[in-house]
Amino acid sequence: MLATAVGIRQAAAHLRNGRLVAFPTETVYGLGADATNADAVGRVFQAKNRPAGHPLIIHTASAAAAFAVGAADPTAARLAERFWPGPLTLVLPLRSEVGIADAVTGGRSTVAVRVPRHPVAAALLRAVRRPVAAPSANPHGRLSPTEAQHVRDELGPAVDLVLDGGPTEIGVESTVLELAGDRPLLLRAGGITVEDLEAAIGPVDEPGADEPARAPGMLRQHYAPRTPLRLDADDPLPDEVYLGFGAAPGATCNLSPTGDLEEAARNLFVMLRQLDSAGARRIAVAPIPDHHLGKAINDRLRRAERGAASPGGPASLQTVCERPS
Ligand code: TXA
Ligand code: MG
Repeated sequence: MLATAVGIRQAAAHLRNGRLVAFPTETVYGLGADATNADAVGRVFQAKNRPAGHPLIIHTASAAAAFAVGAADPTAARLAERFWPGPLTLVLPLRSEVGIADAVTGGRSTVAVRVPRHPVAAALLRAVRRPVAAPSANPHGRLSPTEAQHVRDELGPAVDLVLDGGPTEIGVESTVLELAGDRPLLLRAGGITVEDLEAAIGPVDEPGADEPARAPGMLRQHYAPRTPLRLDADDPLPDEVYLGFGAAPGATCNLSPTGDLEEAARNLFVMLRQLDSAGARRIAVAPIPDHHLGKAINDRLRRAERGAASPGGPASLQTVCERPS
């Protein structure tokens, strides 16, 4: 359903009645449920086939509402001031008095909260007036959806309503930062760069490239197309399709011909989907600089490399990479 005022009102009523609503955020589409309704939250796990114990992010309309769910310290307050609404998730000590369903946190004493800036998400959350738990709206382990049609295709009737707000702006998920220990700890690279976080609050601990599995439910294998990937490839082999970055004359798809990391993040999942349906044996991916949004892109690519299934079929390549403008 189009994300008109009427659509948003209906979606809010669905959420308040315990139904599941997929909605656009600035990062990817989320699959939302009332975070205080244990049955509704349970159905999110079922719809995604997500293992129990993988905690969900709670979305609210304001920092005040987020900090009613997770306890803010001065660092959290500064980050909220600087980056909310926007693609930053903070993991904070859970305030138990608000009645968040246990499954949302996997029974932990911390909770992940974020205030999205997409106007449809913001309007929906204002209308619901409850915290909304929303993982990315994809089957567990698969590529995150950046368009409403991806959600309809892959989650189908398990979702009561899909609000269509067009393609998402950022294209990779939010940055997840834990503020429950002595030092801010990066759990997932994402839409807000570490460079920007450090400019606001000073040093942030980051896991090394060989130990990406920090957060509970952050699997080493994730975000996967079905076709295997080969990363840091300067050129494609004969049985490969090629995902380029920057000048790449033979590329089947190009994340950003001009080498712009924001454009590349926006195109990442949609181009992997397109290349996945090309019927190639393998997807070769050009090297992506490992700074700014490149960190989030490389993190997703490394997980996708580990998560892809078996080599694809014989190369009878379909036409791919008509990026809708
Ligand atoms: O951009 C996004 O963050 C999207 C949109 C829909 O907001 N959501 C999203 O949710 O990516 P999901 O469920 O796919 O990823 C949430 C991640 C989990 O994998 C987990 O690593 C982390 O957030 N997380 C949630 N609660 C946590 C907690 N209490 N402690 C540590 N990590 C947590
Ligand atoms: Mg996800």
